[in-house]
Parts: sequence; structure tokens; C-alpha cells
Amino acid sequence: MLKDKKLYPLDKGSSCITWLWIGTWSMGGEGFGPHDERLSAEVLKEAIQNGLTHFDTAGFYAHGRSETLLSRFIRKKRNSLFISTKGGLFWKGRKVLRDARPEALRAQLVESLQRLRTEYIDLYQLHWPDPNVPIRESIDALKRLKEEGLIRYWGVGNLTVKQIRKELSEERNIPHQVHFNPIHRDFGVLEAGRLTCINCIVSPLEQGLLSNSLVSRGVSALTKRDHRRRNPYFHKTEVLQWIKRLKELSEKTGFSLVHAVLLWIGSREAVNAIVPGPRRPEQLRELLEFLRLVKTLSLESDDSTNSIFSETGVKEVVPERMWNHICKGPEGSLSDF
Ligand SMILES: NC(=O)c1ccc[n+]([C@@H]2O[C@H](COP(=O)([O-])OP(=O)(O)OC[C@H]3O[C@@H](n4cnc5c(N)ncnc54)[C@H](OP(=O)(O)O)[C@@H]3O)[C@@H](O)[C@H]2O)c1
Repeated sequence: MLKDKKLYPLDKGSSCITWLWIGTWSMGGEGFGPHDERLSAEVLKEAIQNGLTHFDTAGFYAHGRSETLLSRFIRKKRNSLFISTKGGLFWKGRKVLRDARPEALRAQLVESLQRLRTEYIDLYQLHWPDPNVPIRESIDALKRLKEEGLIRYWGVGNLTVKQIRKELSEERNIPHQVHFNPIHRDFGVLEAGRLTCINCIVSPLEQGLLSNSLVSRGVSALTKRDHRRRNPYFHKTEVLQWIKRLKELSEKTGFSLVHAVLLWIGSREAVNAIVPGPRRPEQLRELLEFLRLVKTLSLESDDSTNSIFSETGVKEVVPERMWNHICKGPEGSLSDF
């Protein structure tokens, strides 16, 4: 239970869900196709009204606009919310650059604090390791920011198995943002962080491929400037065919594809939190419906250090053919890119 408690917001009396975080990347309105900010604002408002407390953002997202949008909704309830943001990645024109030098992480944190209009960040993470800066140096910088009281916890993102083993072996309960889902099956990273990390799964729906969104048809459904064009899975025939079959099974059985995917992820060993990124109210509602399903059927595992849901319980709920299809995964799925 230690992992769970570590990430409780300051208001410990609240009965919040610590394993479902709302990601705000797409809410900034950049790179995810046509966007209506009013709908994303509605998502944040409704999420908080429905008791969700954990929100993930980054200075990098939409040039800071995701943080700015979030700032409008967190002020009144700041101390009962858990705000996670990141530094180390930034835009230069249309290029993505990394800078995780201690002074850069500090400067980016100050900008995040200003945009979020808050005095502290609950969790500040190294977005991606910077190949020009030893990870240890970046981590030491994060630790100093914690000592200063600017952040409550520090964390990391996108570390390899080797980096986890080398850099985190002496640490415990370090939030690590891990790209993982039935298409991107990086079991090795989950396993490597079992003892040291709180594994937080990002892009659980593979940026919309694993959903009923139009974009689940792949690259042909993306607009010219949609940055998901850079995601190789949007181009892979084997992956798109596998998704098509999953949709058919979902239609036949009447069981939500998104729910099946989230249940599969949350019942994998060493998965501690899931961070989907809804940007329209109906997408958030699908997640709220998911929470109701989990609660009604008591699917939460009692050992949160191992997985969020009990696999035995989950397997009784997800139709067998869907489950087997998800477990098998698509041919040609990558473990890294
Ligand atoms: N640390 C890192 O490096 C890192 C990397 C990636 C993500 N993240 C974090 O993880 C969060 C989620 O990742 P993500 O935005 O890449 O992808 P995601 O959650 O896998 O997919 C989000 C997209 O899926 C579609 N969708 C359809 N139904 C949905 C539903 N019920 N709930 C949510 N989305 C639904 C939407 O696309 P359409 O609106 O186009 O239909 C939405 O933009 C981000 O917001 C961010 O906080 C962190």
C-alpha cells in the first residue's frame, strides 16, 4: 500500500482515486487535429466535479497552453489536487529539444509554476533523459528543488531498463512515466521498475488508436499537422488490422474497447497508475463509466504494489475473445521506438 499512499494529495481525508490520472497533453490544442478548447475546459471541470484529483501536464505540451488551461480549474481546490508536471523538453521552432541541465530544469519549473499559478508542484518529473547530461545530475537537481519546497515529489519519464537499473537502484517509490499498452508492450521497463518505481502508464490508448475515435483508423484519418503522424503505429497495417478486429469484437460483445484495454493494462504486474488523455467530455465520461465499473465489480486489487486490478476479477468481466485478442497483441508491435 505504500505506493498508493505516497501519491495521496495533501487532503488525506478525501477518498480520491490515486491510480487514474487525467493527462492534459491533447487539451492544449496543438498537434492532435481540430480542437475546441471549450470542450477540454469542460473535461477538466467535470473531472474535478466527479472527484478526480490527479492531473498530469508539462511545460512542453502545446507550448505551455495545457498548463495554462489547467491553471483555471485548480485554484480553488489546490490542496486537494495532485498536479504533476515535467521539465527537460522544449520546442525550438518545429523541433523538439532536450535540456535537462540543473539550471534548465529549475528555469522550466519556475515557468510552470507561473503558468499553473501555484506555489508548488506535487510531482515534477524529468520528461525525457537528456543525452548530454548525466541522469544523476538531473535527478540531483530535482532533489534540490524538493528540498527547497518547490515540489513535493520528483519523478522521471521514459527511462530504459538499463537506466532504471543504473540510476534508481538506491531509490524507492519514484514515479516513472512509462509508455505501455497492448500495442506498445514494454514489459521489460515495468519489470525493471517493480521495486523502485511507481509505474505510471502514459498513452494507454496509443494516442487514440485504441479507442472508437476516428483516428483509430490510422494515418489516413489524421490531418496534415497532426503530430500523431510521427507515431509509427498509425502507419502499420498489422496494427490497424488488429485494432479493426478488436473493434468488431467490442461491437459483437457490447463491451467497451477502451474499458477492455484499460482493464488489461491495469491488471498487468507492476502497473500502479494509468494516465489517459481525454479532451472531449464524452471521452471523460467513458472514463467515469470505467470507474463505476471498477467500483461496482470491486476489481481493485488489494496489493497496489503489484497491479491496480486483480487479473482473476478482470478476466471474469472482459469477454473471453476480446481478452485473448488483447493478450496476443498485434503482429509487428514494437517494444520501443
Ligand atoms: N512522459 C511522457 O513522455 C508522456 C508521453 C505521452 C503522454 N504522456 C501523458 O499521458 C497522457 C495521455 O497520453 P496521450 O494523450 O498521448 O494518449 P492516450 O491517452 O493514449 O490517447 C488520447 C487520445 O485518445 C482519444 N480518445 C478516445 N477515447 C478516449 C477516452 N475515453 N479517453 C481518453 N482519450 C480518448 C482522443 O483522441 P481524439 O480526440 O483525437 O479522438 C485522445 O486525444 C498525456 O496527456 C500526458 O499527460 C506523457
